[in-house]
Amino acid sequence: MTEQTLFIVKPDAVARKLVGQIISRFESKGFKILKLKMFTFTKAQAEEFYSVHNTKPFFGELVSFIASGPVVAAVIEGNNAVATTRLLVGATKSFEAAPGSIRGDFGLGISDNIIHASDSKESFEKEARVVFQ
Ligand code: CMP
Repeated sequence: MTEQTLFIVKPDAVARKLVGQIISRFESKGFKILKLKMFTFTKAQAEEFYSVHNTKPFFGELVSFIASGPVVAAVIEGNNAVATTRLLVGATKSFEAAPGSIRGDFGLGISDNIIHASDSKESFEKEARVVFQ
């Protein structure tokens, strides 16, 4: 079923000049890019984006990291987009992510885990609203 989802290339990956390689993986897989935007989160925007985690002990670290430098956000469309994108992205802890996944191939961190992807249709709708208005 054709769906849309959102991913964000995080500040660590932008700083390491991985934007092109990461976007290329989604294009190669067959997804269509509908929206693409480079920007830097304000603290308030980051708190809203990650509000589902606001009771977690790592919330402060999460917000400060995502707002620490420019990110690249994309809305993409294709078959089974939400779940398939999560497979391409890999496990949250990059050091545990399977080789072949984006986190598995490019990272070792947890806050600095290269890329964020919406985990459901509802998260996509909320996150796309926060990022693209
Ligand atoms: P992301 O996919 O952006 O969604 C929530 C983020 O919280 C996750 O990637 C990690 O970057 C971060 N996160 C999850 N667990 C921890 C943790 N234990 N410590 C710090 N950050 C975490």
